[in-house]
Amino acid sequence: MKVIIVENYEEMSEVACEIIAEQIKEKPNSIIGLATGSSPVRTYELLIEEYQKKEISFKDVTTFNLDEYIGLDYDHPQSYHYFMNDVLFSKIDIDLNNTNFPDTIGDLDVNVAAYNKKLYENQIDLQLLGIGSNGHIAFNEPGTSFDSETHVVELTKETKEDNKRFFNSIEEVPTTALTMGIKSIMNAKKILILASGLNKAQAIKELLEGIETTDLPASILMSHPEVILVCDEASASLLEDVEEAVE
Ligand code: F6R
Repeated sequence: MKVIIVENYEEMSEVACEIIAEQIKEKPNSIIGLATGSSPVRTYELLIEEYQKKEISFKDVTTFNLDEYIGLDYDHPQSYHYFMNDVLFSKIDIDLNNTNFPDTIGDLDVNVAAYNKKLYENQIDLQLLGIGSNGHIAFNEPGTSFDSETHVVELTKETKEDNKRFFNSIEEVPTTALTMGIKSIMNAKKILILASGLNKAQAIKELLEGIETTDLPASILMSHPEVILVCDEASASLLEDVEEAVE
């Protein structure tokens, strides 16, 4: 794992934007895995700027999102479909037919099988990830098998607490979601993981201690051949020996 420690969220986003833009320049029909949440928002804004400057085009890019809440319509402002359209897709030249999500409307078993099939047929070139304060990646909560594919998850109390900031109250946070599994994430050719803020510091410390355990889903990333972790100083603040952690 290559670890890049930067000063703050803005710098983290600049590094992330550069890596993603480079990927698209090198391979205009890249398949990119996308995340929602706070971590990538500024990265998406910077990518929109690159698009506006005509540095990159998304017209041949295909995307796969990590997850979606169960129980929210896609036009609900907190659904991940809405989020992606709002923060990125409506502002770039991507073909919406090339954007993919785990589908939570309709028969979930059918939707799970369909998403897994698509993921088998389309190896992700670059997967963007955030990390939960409990070490989750996508909505793969602690205890999830490293062999998991797309599945329904019960969100942990911690994740609901973390995400209640987007809702009026914790009662409004959906209790279940559909998520890409860890095996599918690990199948990506390259992974870029972002961490910002003090609430991620414990998870980052445990991740870089290098012990592979399902208690910390992100720990599996240590065994992936091409991962870049970009973290800000706050999320890196519990690293005692930063030199050692940085490749
Ligand atoms: C989002 C996702 C989650 C988030 C994680 C961090 O699609 O899959 O794993 O990346 O919960 O969320 P933020 O970035 O809001 O701190």
